[in-house]
Amino acid sequence: MPKTGSSAPPAPPKKNNAKPAPGTPARASAKPPAAAPSGSALEIKDTRTSKTYNVPVADGAIRATELKKIRTNDPDDTGLMSYDPAFLNTASCRSAITFIDGDKGILRYRGYPIEQLAENATFLEVAWLLRHGELPTQPEYDQFIHEITFHTYVHENMRKFLEGFRYDAHPMAMLNSSVAGLAAFYPSARNIFDETERNISIIRLLAKTPTIAAFSYRHVKGLPFVYPDNRLSYVENFLSMIARMSESKYEANPVFARALEILFILHADHEQNCSTSAVRGVGSSHVDPFSAISAGVAALFGPLHGGANEQVLRMISEIGSVKNVPKFIETVKSGEGGRLMGFGHRVYKSYDPRAKIVKKLADEIFKVVGVDKDLEIALELERIALSDDYFTSRKLYPNVDFYTGLIYRSMAFPTDFFTVLFAIGRMPGWLAQWEEMLLDKEQKISRPRQVYTGLPERPFRSKLKAK
Ligand code: ACO
Repeated sequence: MPKTGSSAPPAPPKKNNAKPAPGTPARASAKPPAAAPSGSALEIKDTRTSKTYNVPVADGAIRATELKKIRTNDPDDTGLMSYDPAFLNTASCRSAITFIDGDKGILRYRGYPIEQLAENATFLEVAWLLRHGELPTQPEYDQFIHEITFHTYVHENMRKFLEGFRYDAHPMAMLNSSVAGLAAFYPSARNIFDETERNISIIRLLAKTPTIAAFSYRHVKGLPFVYPDNRLSYVENFLSMIARMSESKYEANPVFARALEILFILHADHEQNCSTSAVRGVGSSHVDPFSAISAGVAALFGPLHGGANEQVLRMISEIGSVKNVPKFIETVKSGEGGRLMGFGHRVYKSYDPRAKIVKKLADEIFKVVGVDKDLEIALELERIALSDDYFTSRKLYPNVDFYTGLIYRSMAFPTDFFTVLFAIGRMPGWLAQWEEMLLDKEQKISRPRQVYTGLPERPFRSKLKAK
């Protein structure tokens, strides 16, 4: 049931009193980096003024605001800035959630290697871990499962909202607007510094996203909506809402259910990627979590981010046959054919550890459903790209999206639904990062600076006919 609580604006941020989420260990991010010990400093000589500055270095970083102290004698000089389009080398936060070493192909959630989590954990165990910093105990886990299970239903008006979309609406557009729309159903969620409100919003987003996703799938297919089945696990319930017809209880193929669980775990967080930065950036205005998370869904939709899994399949079907692969690779290299979708990563420069797991998973799925007809093309693309200097010299390797699309298609998901599956998986990461940002005393409203390149002041002279 929707909560018709206060629609009052959020309480002013009680930054110094904000309690960490239950179970959250004391984090390094609770305090600004200590003053650098003597010697841990960067000596900068400004050749414009011949002045020398000592900028403290802590945790391998300097504070960009320290650069502001470096000024010329020009009274209009507001101080030195760092210029970093697309944040290639700028840390925007201190985070204790996910660790990536892109050169070594390492990914860890709260210290646990992704390989071990994918092998042994459940998705909801990982969701708890990401938020709280430790694995749940049995009572914590049971309570968490109970809460998620009993918040899977959406308000009937949300169903009507989804029915208003055209039959050919992209499911990511439906998901994005529906997640944002939840803010209208739960106005008290705006009280983001109230721990109880934050907790229930997080539960609601984890519980209802699969329901909204499945409803959007059924809407496009023209099938009746299937309501959540509380007897099933998180993943089985999702598959039931997708595929159940007249049977009284849906029984998912266990290989598919486990594969989807692993894929959700692999996607659960990836530190400060485009969508997570969007969630943090929008959330930094202290808007409600549904609005902040919908910004993440929007960012994920893009073909350079989560939308790549969809584009991989479209690219493969355009290539059409293995014999066309060498020609296609040439068009990528010349720039005429666009990018090799599913290849390259901003952070991973040797291999994407998730892609390794997904490739193994694909083999297991293909044993059940037979080899995907496009797998041959994918393998040939991979083979040629991994031995071609264009790709190796740029450190372009298959990323997580290269094989996920083939798995999703083998499970009979339509191509434009792939990114929705990614969004369900990423939800716990967005939420953990959103909460970490809110409770981080160093964070403020996100507001980058710019290097102004426009015209200097000039007088207004209208080009319209005299009035
Ligand atoms: N195919 C061909 N060339 C590529 C590719 C690619 N997939 N990716 C990068 N390059 C080339 C660029 O043209 C550039 O070449 P240049 O130096 O000659 O100009 C060089 O490699 C560096 O590329 P950048 O764009 O600077 O790399 P960046 O780190 O900004 O981009 C990205 C990373 C967006 C992932 C990019 O590799 C890409 O577009 N890949 C395809 C889309 C994709 O698979 N996205 C999913 C990423 S994973 C995820 O979000 C879950």
